[in-house]
Amino acid sequence: MTVDLPGMAQMHSLDVFRHYDRTHWRLAELQLDAVDLTKVKPEYVTLVKSAVMGESNVIAAVHGFMNEFLDDYDFSAFAVIWGYQEVQHHYAFTSWLQAVGEEVDNRAVAAMRAPYDPGSTPSATLATNIISELTVNHVYRAVSQWVEEPVLKQLLLQASRDEAGHAREFRHFAAKRLERHPEEIPSVLETLYFYTSDDRIKHPVGVFKSGLAELETTETIDTGFEMFLDTVADAGSLEELQGKIRRTFGSLTGYDLSSNKAVRRALATSLG
Ligand SMILES: [Fe+2]
Ligand SMILES: [Fe+2]
Repeated sequence: MTVDLPGMAQMHSLDVFRHYDRTHWRLAELQLDAVDLTKVKPEYVTLVKSAVMGESNVIAAVHGFMNEFLDDYDFSAFAVIWGYQEVQHHYAFTSWLQAVGEEVDNRAVAAMRAPYDPGSTPSATLATNIISELTVNHVYRAVSQWVEEPVLKQLLLQASRDEAGHAREFRHFAAKRLERHPEEIPSVLETLYFYTSDDRIKHPVGVFKSGLAELETTETIDTGFEMFLDTVADAGSLEELQGKIRRTFGSLTGYDLSSNKAVRRALATSLG
């Protein structure tokens, strides 16, 4: 096995660790005893249960990363740091549900445990994660503006900021990976095309974890996205998200990816 080492340069995961260590919020700071029950609507509970199911995938994701990135210490260290934050999101949303007298179905969470299969390439895996982070960043921010219960509003805002940071870091590691493995660019473009070429929110957790029997009677992440598009999102919200994803991938790969047609053209060019 060849080992991709960053030589004598400082590991990026150390920069990330220092940054999080200095600035990151803590679950203990969330004012759960100040939750305003008079402002809680049933839709909030559904959305937060969906968020719990999405966030609970962190374990499967970390497991998958550890299997797939055996040759990359720096990214693996980042994945562990990232995983802690996602567990924090999972348990912060769970704590809010407890504060309003709701419960999470542990069997549904446990069904999320199995690891992800590797992507078609490691770059495709990183690209998939850029999309999932940009998506939850967008959704959490919009939902935060929409909800009126102040503790949930604050939690969604903080989680949304974290997801923006995660998208940046996955983009960083994807760029590093593509510098060393430009032959993986087509797999990144295929990933983009798969997730952005239709008019609904496609999220990797929904794509990879649908059809589990344990999820038949619970909210899933897709329940949340459907409710988001039906009840929360402004007209143009999905286009805005897809535009953001396309711009990120455009700067990552150097191709014009501003429309589905442009993505298909770039894919053909990159395959030579
Ligand atoms: Fe998260
Ligand atoms: Fe995230």
